[in-house]
Amino acid sequence: MKMNIWDAFWGLEVEQCPCDVHLVEWLETEGLSGKRIYHFGTGGHHYVGLRCAEPRLDNTVLGITAAPKEYEAFIALATENPTVTKSYSAYFGDIYTSNAKLLPRFDIVTLFHSCEFRSAANDAYGALTDREVMDLFTQQTDAGGHILFYKGSFAYGAAEPIIAEWASEMPVEELPGFKTLRIFRKTA
Ligand SMILES: C[S@@+](CC[C@H](N)C(=O)[O-])C[C@H]1O[C@@H](n2cnc3c(N)ncnc32)[C@H](O)[C@@H]1O
Repeated sequence: MKMNIWDAFWGLEVEQCPCDVHLVEWLETEGLSGKRIYHFGTGGHHYVGLRCAEPRLDNTVLGITAAPKEYEAFIALATENPTVTKSYSAYFGDIYTSNAKLLPRFDIVTLFHSCEFRSAANDAYGALTDREVMDLFTQQTDAGGHILFYKGSFAYGAAEPIIAEWASEMPVEELPGFKTLRIFRKTA
């Protein structure tokens, strides 16, 4: 049995997948800085980590990628720009094997790619479901923090009912969205 890796490399295809750009625009619009962000799906561009490391935004980001080439890109950027690793770290793994004991607390969690990449290949090693990932990262988010989803995802149709069930059972309230993003605040 092998990990269900994402055998690709995602550049900054804003027209196809603007979620990371919209996240940074939302942070700028809301004036959110000093926040601890967990980011599902770094992309090979590592845009969220790099932008949040800018002094004006000054947010810390822990990003996950299941793509070996994207992780190699992170090693290259950290090697060339070690300062960025003071506030940005990316790790290679499957979000569906997340373990709360390995995770810090967060103020903002992005679950943009919910339901996109989970399959029977993940079941083979007892991986979490999408709902379990939502619950786990909700637990890792402090009260008042935000959990974000991406309406433009090709799997949004599959994610939407799971998000609805999650929102009805967890201590969260929905806020006005921002462009392609749905935004929930943890209430307790
Ligand atoms: C289409 S790319 C989008 C990247 C970036 N968020 C963007 O919009 O430009 C999907 C991302 O999800 C990551 N990914 C796919 N399956 C994953 C999994 N099981 N666990 C963690 N990350 C995963 C990929 O490594 C990749 O970074």
